[in-house]
Amino acid sequence: MPKKDTVTITDNATGKTMECPVLHGVHGVPVVDIQGLYKNLGYFTHDPGFTTTSSCESRITYIDGDEGVLLYRGYPIEQLAEKSSYLEVCYLLLYGELPTPTQWQDFEARIRKHTMVHEDGRHFLRGYRRGAHPMGMLVGLTGAMSTFYHATLDVGNPEHRNRSAMRVIAKMPTLAAFIYKHGVGQPYVYPNNKLSFVENFLNMMFSVPAEEYVPDPVAVKALELMLILHADHEQNASTSTVRLAGSSGANPYACIAGGVATLWGPAHGGANEAVIKMLHAIGDAKEIPKYIARAKDKNDSFRLMGFGHRVYKNFDPRAKLIRKACYELLDKLDASEQPIFEIALQLEKIALEDEYFISRKLYPNVDFYSGIILSALNIPLSMFTVMFAMGRSVGWISQWMEMMGEPNQRIGRPRQIYSGAAKRDYIAIKERD
Ligand code: ACO
Repeated sequence: MPKKDTVTITDNATGKTMECPVLHGVHGVPVVDIQGLYKNLGYFTHDPGFTTTSSCESRITYIDGDEGVLLYRGYPIEQLAEKSSYLEVCYLLLYGELPTPTQWQDFEARIRKHTMVHEDGRHFLRGYRRGAHPMGMLVGLTGAMSTFYHATLDVGNPEHRNRSAMRVIAKMPTLAAFIYKHGVGQPYVYPNNKLSFVENFLNMMFSVPAEEYVPDPVAVKALELMLILHADHEQNASTSTVRLAGSSGANPYACIAGGVATLWGPAHGGANEAVIKMLHAIGDAKEIPKYIARAKDKNDSFRLMGFGHRVYKNFDPRAKLIRKACYELLDKLDASEQPIFEIALQLEKIALEDEYFISRKLYPNVDFYSGIILSALNIPLSMFTVMFAMGRSVGWISQWMEMMGEPNQRIGRPRQIYSGAAKRDYIAIKERD
């Protein structure tokens, strides 16, 4: 925090004033520190949806929504997407620097060592009915991980925290693939640590004992990119949930389960699934104008899924990168004849030219394209948000590690405006009308 100045808040009712320090980060909008407001002036602040509230100081990810910038530990997402791998990005997000060759070898070896899940953990899946939503199962399984590692659950111990981070990153693909196999009734495929992180995941998903499976390099490249782009996104809803849960001292797996649950919502990670459902519902490119009209109608709750973002009001840099990959993939897979891809491309074009979307700065977001990519890779629809969770798990655990490493970390506890009944006395039931 190199520079400090102040903002004066004046209470017009009492004439009292308060000097609030202004905090400056390395990049970004200055932040008014209003921590003393209640003590000095007797007010809380009100900011539903936290649209203008900074909840923490973080050194992990920076977003400039107006300029369409996304940095992981200072590195532009474009450079990482082109030159790095998902696992290297995991190292970067967790520890703040790109690994040296020795650090990289050690990290990779540690991740490989943790890819298997406890057999009893696998048996949890038997309890879920077939057809259970994969995200529901993932909420359960990530939380259940806390029941297997009692010896390393001391959240005050940095080595325990680090071990938990390794486990979360390494086991998420295994859990995800097991969840898929449970749903389709195929045998579970154990991790093969000779394969790369992404190849290993695809192998666990799509190989069966009866046939040899070789992951398609096109699929590996597209998934690698998708995971990198989803790895972290500063204080979004699921990450804030992980931090809030962690602020109480809850164990990391319980916190991650909270993050998975939050991600599931269609306004957040569930949008990638919602995009494909919407494309199927549209069904024919001729129907697009009808859906655009519905999206604009204030009396209709329908929104164009995969459009708009709370922070990006210019373009989503992740969407730009994944859009390119999406087009390349559709080209290679010769998917142009599949109607939903055709609808997606036309919808994108029409919405980008429409005044309603232009004036509100509603651009296709990362989920618009990731849904299309996952669909083209034959990942089933209900697994889409699980794929997002797999990529984001490193962001959640990195943010949790950062928070838990802070000396003055306090439990998160927002306040409220109470608008319920005023204080009143209990009336015995026989006296009520
Ligand atoms: N379709 C139609 N209109 C929209 C859409 C949309 N997808 N998104 C926003 N709008 C309109 C709103 O109706 C509002 O119009 P108004 O000013 O006339 O009232 C205006 O644009 C601003 O919208 P807000 O709701 O204030 O934007 P907010 O920042 O709260 O919401 C959100 C952002 C949740 C992403 C929203 O754009 C949306 O619901 N998008 C669809 C779901 C989606 O794709 N989510 C994925 C987000 S990315 C991610 O999680 C990785």
